[in-house]
Amino acid sequence: MDAIRFYSRTGNTEKLANLLGEQLHVPAKSIDSPIDKPVDRLFLGGGVYNMSADKHLKAFAANLDPEKVKEVFLFGTSGSVFTIEKQLTKVLKKKKIPVADDHLFLHGVMPKMGNINGHQKKEIEAFAKETVTQ
Ligand SMILES: Cc1cc2nc3c(=O)[nH]c(=O)nc-3n(C[C@H](O)[C@H](O)[C@H](O)COP(=O)(O)O)c2cc1C
Repeated sequence: MDAIRFYSRTGNTEKLANLLGEQLHVPAKSIDSPIDKPVDRLFLGGGVYNMSADKHLKAFAANLDPEKVKEVFLFGTSGSVFTIEKQLTKVLKKKKIPVADDHLFLHGVMPKMGNINGHQKKEIEAFAKETVTQ
């Protein structure tokens, strides 16, 4: 079983999470929904704010139960080249939850604009396909 959780302040990562959810046939939910049933793969995403992942997202990751999450795939959006990868990987490693090498980060996404272009939509489709076969 798979699950998608996201933290999104202005809607962009939510939009990405929903597009990914359509591809994976999994509902995308905010981090307000805890992971209560075991999942093989958790897709966990967020935006970048002042060069950092939001503290709520980091807390969500820190509170995950390693017994319930086999592997995490990170995704996210940002205005520039930053991602949540380093910070979230650090938190998840501490929890001994494996983080997949494969991830999906979209850049140049301006706050509230949800400006995900055609090429990026193709990237989302490819990511979904890649992760299914892993
Ligand atoms: C308060 C604020 C701070 C931001 N700081 C950065 C930043 O330091 N680096 C960056 O690449 N993007 C930054 N951005 C852009 C967001 O990462 C980008 O628009 C992202 O898509 C927002 O995701 P969300 O809509 O899911 O919240 C910032 C946006 C906001 C609103």
